[in-house]
Amino acid sequence: MINIVLFGPPGAGKGTQSQKIIDTFQLKHISTGDLFRKHLGEGTDLGKKAQSYMDNGKLVPDEVVIGMVDDFLNANSDAKGFIFDGFPRTVAQAEALDELLKNRNTKIDQMIMLNVPEDELKRRLLERGKTSGRADDQNEEKINVRIQEYLNKTLPVAEFYEKQGKASKINGVGTIDGIFEEISSAIEALR
Ligand code: AP5
Repeated sequence: MINIVLFGPPGAGKGTQSQKIIDTFQLKHISTGDLFRKHLGEGTDLGKKAQSYMDNGKLVPDEVVIGMVDDFLNANSDAKGFIFDGFPRTVAQAEALDELLKNRNTKIDQMIMLNVPEDELKRRLLERGKTSGRADDQNEEKINVRIQEYLNKTLPVAEFYEKQGKASKINGVGTIDGIFEEISSAIEALR
């Protein structure tokens, strides 16, 4: 089993690269952002809890996210491994994930961080906002809040994995295929 955390700021390319990783390595993709958007679309209680946070670019409270991930892991207990996209986003979530995996006799093998400068992140998200309909991509103010949340609350998660000797950093600027090659090499090295 291989479990990877794909890490990086909003717009770094986590979702784009996850699609390629799952095709090549047969891992199960868990994107907490996508799961929340699914709940929002279905009008569930969980979706209603998450909506105001997401619309404003703020992080959803840890207990809500962790419960949702626990449910996902239970529902996919036959997976050969997971690619975690957009989770964990706080140190408390990273600690909870370690515990969830330990209870299943497994662990995170590697955190792969995509580095992309802030002006490129904003360019990508504003461009996507034109067609995606995502409320949190609609204007620069909301994008700035998301980037600030990342810097304040999520970046410390990188240090959490660095201390465990499980962090790789990859340049997230370039062609999608070129970046994927580097990610693939990092995953291959774990097999
Ligand atoms: P989430 O859906 O996770 O959004 P995000 O982290 O802001 O990530 P994005 O989907 O915007 O970016 P990405 O890195 O996946 O990049 P992508 O591949 O799409 O979270 C949304 C919200 O949900 C959060 O704000 C929060 O409220 C809540 N939430 C989710 N998880 C949570 C958690 N764990 N705890 C608390 N709250 C949580 O690419 C972006 C764009 O760039 C695309 O248009 C793409 O085509 C383009 N692109 C990709 N790669 C390249 C490239 N190499 N060159 C040029 N363009 C590229």
